[in-house]
Amino acid sequence: MSSQIADAIVVSRHAVVASLGFVFASSALATAQRSPAQLAIIPPRASHIADSVLKLMTLEEKLGQITQSPAGFDQTGPTVDAAGEQQVRKGQLGSFLGLYGADVTRRMQKIAVEESRLHIPLIFGYDVIHGMRTIFPIPLAMAATFDSSAAVRATRVAATEATALGLHWTFAPMVDIARDARWGRIIEGAGEDPYLGSVMAAAQVRGFQGDNLRSPTSVLATAKHFAAYGGAEGGRDYNVVSVSERDLWNVYLPPFRAAVRAGAGSFMASFNEINGTPSHANDWLLTDVLRKQWDFRGMVVSDWTGVWEMIAHGLGDSLTVAERALHAGVDMEMSSTLYRNKLGAELRAGRFPIVLLDTAVHRVLTVKAALGLFDDPYRGASADRERTQILTAEDRAQAREIAREAIVLLTNRTVGGTPALPLRRDIRSIAVIGPLGADSNSVLGGWHGAGRKEDAVSVLDGLRRALPNADIKYAAGVGLDTVPVEGPVNTPAIAEAEQLARAADVVLLVVGEAEQMTGEAASRSWLGLPGAQHQLAQTVVRAARASNPSKPVIAVLVNGRPLAVQWLADSASALVESWHLGVEHGNALADVLLGDVAPSGKLPATFPRVTGQVPIYYDHKNTGRPPVEGVKWNSKYIDAPVTPLFPFGYGLSYTTFEYSNLHVSKPSLRGSESVTLSVDVRNTGTRAGTEVAQLYLRDDAASVTRPVRELRGFRRVLLQPGQSQTLTFRLDPDDLAMYDRDMRRVVEPGAFTVWAGGSSAATLEGHFTVTGGVTVLAPAPPRFR
Ligand code: NOJ
Repeated sequence: MSSQIADAIVVSRHAVVASLGFVFASSALATAQRSPAQLAIIPPRASHIADSVLKLMTLEEKLGQITQSPAGFDQTGPTVDAAGEQQVRKGQLGSFLGLYGADVTRRMQKIAVEESRLHIPLIFGYDVIHGMRTIFPIPLAMAATFDSSAAVRATRVAATEATALGLHWTFAPMVDIARDARWGRIIEGAGEDPYLGSVMAAAQVRGFQGDNLRSPTSVLATAKHFAAYGGAEGGRDYNVVSVSERDLWNVYLPPFRAAVRAGAGSFMASFNEINGTPSHANDWLLTDVLRKQWDFRGMVVSDWTGVWEMIAHGLGDSLTVAERALHAGVDMEMSSTLYRNKLGAELRAGRFPIVLLDTAVHRVLTVKAALGLFDDPYRGASADRERTQILTAEDRAQAREIAREAIVLLTNRTVGGTPALPLRRDIRSIAVIGPLGADSNSVLGGWHGAGRKEDAVSVLDGLRRALPNADIKYAAGVGLDTVPVEGPVNTPAIAEAEQLARAADVVLLVVGEAEQMTGEAASRSWLGLPGAQHQLAQTVVRAARASNPSKPVIAVLVNGRPLAVQWLADSASALVESWHLGVEHGNALADVLLGDVAPSGKLPATFPRVTGQVPIYYDHKNTGRPPVEGVKWNSKYIDAPVTPLFPFGYGLSYTTFEYSNLHVSKPSLRGSESVTLSVDVRNTGTRAGTEVAQLYLRDDAASVTRPVRELRGFRRVLLQPGQSQTLTFRLDPDDLAMYDRDMRRVVEPGAFTVWAGGSSAATLEGHFTVTGGVTVLAPAPPRFR
């Protein structure tokens, strides 16, 4: 460590030690909570238990307590080797990652609580993201439901299954806002919008944690990756993020704030840096914002080897990065072991403040106590629950219902006088074509916990079950290659697909991304169809049309990110976005294709026309030269439109909806007042359907630039044909607020516009004016550094 850095650490250590000492030691502050949900999840009793245990611990036990080891894996499932067992016995490990199964977790816990000196229970964590065994739609698809109750229900099932298998802690929800679909991890979050992202973040926290963290069916939730991980430059995973303080507060931090307010008991630091500081060393983020401003009471875990990775970030040697992480507020180190192996000597020699270690250990123990582990270390883990509460018929029914809601109908053309979808039940023959048509692994999605492909229903299986009398044939046509193929492709497999397309009454073209093309470390530079799938689509559409110009060719996307599929959208009779929907994928898709349920999903992220448009998102700022067609000197491309293929919030149904009478309760109000908007939504079609009505807001003129519009409310509403309903939305001062030049949260006087409709392109507008002076809702947050 250079002497300058060392000095800086010593100076900042004093400040941090003083402040952490305050948070940790002051019982007055502990009861004077500003966040009721945090207090409910981490009650004072838990902190008292931690106090009493901490006093008894040796330095080695403390360092072990803040260390988490990954489990091994063999034919029987997750395991622990002899060395791991020995660490547990010696009290030198606080947690396992990826160890699940009632039997193995109970066995390890028994060693911890019966053979270790202080009998401190282990905490078992795992990535239970969109299901444990009953796999639900990927989080991006879950966001497409615009249904927070669906997110609560899915995470409740996941928590119940996870706890039966011995887990206490999930590394979810992932609440990173993502506006660049090249980034593979867009699959794991709620998409591009901070408002929708906040609603979904809070819902998932509530579902995972339940009403009471001590319940044997509750798991501790982790809001991750703190923060701005989704802003990776070039969409390349783990990359640097260049973000302004203002965008951080407006875009990336709101879902994390919502997670804290919902009571999230744990946070995970992100791999990226912001403003020159990797999150694992970012005391501004982890302490000033998270703990001091937001009153977060839980624990912070590193993301995998994120502490160690700061050596490669260029922050110094292994001791330096371990010190920086602990000092910043990373309480537990996942997978790498610099805390356990590097800090001992420094602490013993008094060169590193013991209070920093004690604070981290105290937080880990407090969370364990809040989970009730000191009272019942085995909690929900039971062979009986494993048998009876996993992959139940009710869970599958929930998964099917939610999966249906997540499907987004993107186009639906009229062929032969009727819309291509829904399909008629009396179809005689269907050709299912495409490499994802019979794939029961990819439909499980990127984080499928203990999910198994044997449990999952592929598109082909779902259709065959729904139409047992139809002749349904399948041809993959091409393989699941990642790199796009250029030029024509002529293979026997494509010829076979072509032949099926000619012969069948209806073609279902199932294309998109395999599971491994999405998620972590799966960034793509090209958002078209991978491999030779585009060539397959062209061949099949041509062959089908040649045999019968009005033959429906239904294109179904099975994928984990917005794709640039302009040709497919223009050429297929209908285009359906089915994401990766989990174990019930094929059944849910068949329900929608056959019209048992009308589609109601809406896009949680903008679909570009071409890859070069990304990052693309609806709530962008205007430039001084907004794009005007046919005029050169303004903000656009010379070789592609600036408009998206499909905008945020967009999705069709089998019926149509009309919006009218957007009414503003007060045309003029003070900045401290609320305003209510009402709008009539009418089903103008001939069948029942659910619409996601959306409300957008713009501050027309402000002291700093504001987005062209921002989502401020949405409501799912089921309407019978001809039925109309008046929906109301209340906007409170915080909904109208913005950060001013000094980063104060204010409502400024002036004109506001609202829009109501079925997507971010809604055109029905209303207006109101805020009068009087500037209303200050909150002072500026801690100084960005
Ligand atoms: C790395 C990922 O970034 C994170 O999301 C996950 O929770 C950990 N690995 C543990 O699997």
